[in-house]
Amino acid sequence: MSAVTTAIAPTGTGATTLREGAFGHATGLSCRECGHAIALGPHYACPECFGPLEIAYDFPAVTREQIEAGPANIWRYKALLPVPADIEQSPNMEPGFTRLLKAGNLGRELGIDNLWVKDDSTNPTHSFKDRVVACALSAAREFGSKVFACPSTGNLANAVAAAGARAGIKTVVFIPSNLERAKQVNSAVYTDSLVAVDGNYDDVNKLASEIAGEEDGWAFVNVNVRPYYAEGSKTLGYEIAEQLGWRLPDQIVIPVASGSQLTKVDKAFQELIKLGLVEDKPYKVFGAQATGCSPVSVAYKAGTDAIRPVKPDTIAKSLAIGNPADGIYVLDICRRTGGAVEDITDEQVREGILLLARTEGIFTETAGGTTVGVLKKLVETGQLDTSLETVVINTGMGLKTLDAVADSVGPAATIAPSYAVFAATGLAD
Ligand SMILES: Cc1ncc(COP(=O)(O)O)c(C=O)c1O
Ligand SMILES: [Zn+2]
Repeated sequence: MSAVTTAIAPTGTGATTLREGAFGHATGLSCRECGHAIALGPHYACPECFGPLEIAYDFPAVTREQIEAGPANIWRYKALLPVPADIEQSPNMEPGFTRLLKAGNLGRELGIDNLWVKDDSTNPTHSFKDRVVACALSAAREFGSKVFACPSTGNLANAVAAAGARAGIKTVVFIPSNLERAKQVNSAVYTDSLVAVDGNYDDVNKLASEIAGEEDGWAFVNVNVRPYYAEGSKTLGYEIAEQLGWRLPDQIVIPVASGSQLTKVDKAFQELIKLGLVEDKPYKVFGAQATGCSPVSVAYKAGTDAIRPVKPDTIAKSLAIGNPADGIYVLDICRRTGGAVEDITDEQVREGILLLARTEGIFTETAGGTTVGVLKKLVETGQLDTSLETVVINTGMGLKTLDAVADSVGPAATIAPSYAVFAATGLAD
């Protein structure tokens, strides 16, 4: 259990004393590579081997009933997150508990008997990033950070800017300057410190690491508080299991940029099994990328563990991370569970967006187009078992990436306001 813990704050601020229970049942940070353990603090790299750090816990006994009695947002799982018991008292965006929809029409179209869409586009800033940012905000608050920041492919910037506004903490968000206009506006409405960087996401990320090393008291959600941030994605896995009636799906398809979300959904499933909240059963995890930025898919197909960084060139800008931090763990999970990593062309991404819209009435962004398009490809190539219960995650909202499909759809006819003219179009037939 976390008693008062001494943590080293970001460069220059010295030791900070954390309050009792600041991180709930988290007990420390442990290295994913060598297992080295250190105290909770704003650290992300192992001091021994530079491997990524993740949160270690001593979970209490948690029952389904306790969770079900909680709020209709991610805090119903707060006992399993690195957040204090009083988290709901601090202003936050209250994300999560989004709909899990039976996708009968899409399932019929693809020949999948039992298909569900986890629709995370209904989060407060319309992507799953509100989940991770809520956990990062809690960490930033507990560390006494004065600036809440991120490098982002778009959605994260939206979520950080909004959450910072609501929490009353200064935000600075960094994005590639070629980002979709809607993603820029969706950040700039919440903050006057949106910084557009001439470069791709990997350049923006490098700059953020440099700033984190130079400036005192900055919490870069996906850099120096990444272990806390990443835990927020576990709630996607918890919710899917709970909404299926406390059961794991047989197969799940998840988009991959850094790969963090996919690894945390798997971690969530494993935790639920260990806690006895769901029955232990096999499940397959599939990763989805766009061909124009598919370093993990390329490595998967080559049968190697070595991920070669790429320069992204795809309309799926939210997934355009050429050097994915968690790529090797994605490979491991997809291989271990019997899943796969697959990629599709930009044209297939567009088709994926329209397919989901026209079968289920859900307008997804390019990341969701990638995931649905990959689902289709997995069926066509025989990699996905169509007789098994399958969940596909829609992580974002189509209104943010209108340009992707704007040239593919539009009015069937533009007519004078006259019945005769309308009848002549044949649209009434
Ligand atoms: C809409 C959307 N889906 C999926 C992802 C991929 O997330 P991760 O970096 O955790 O793989 C992102 C990342 O920015 C995103 O914006
Ligand atoms: Zn290590």
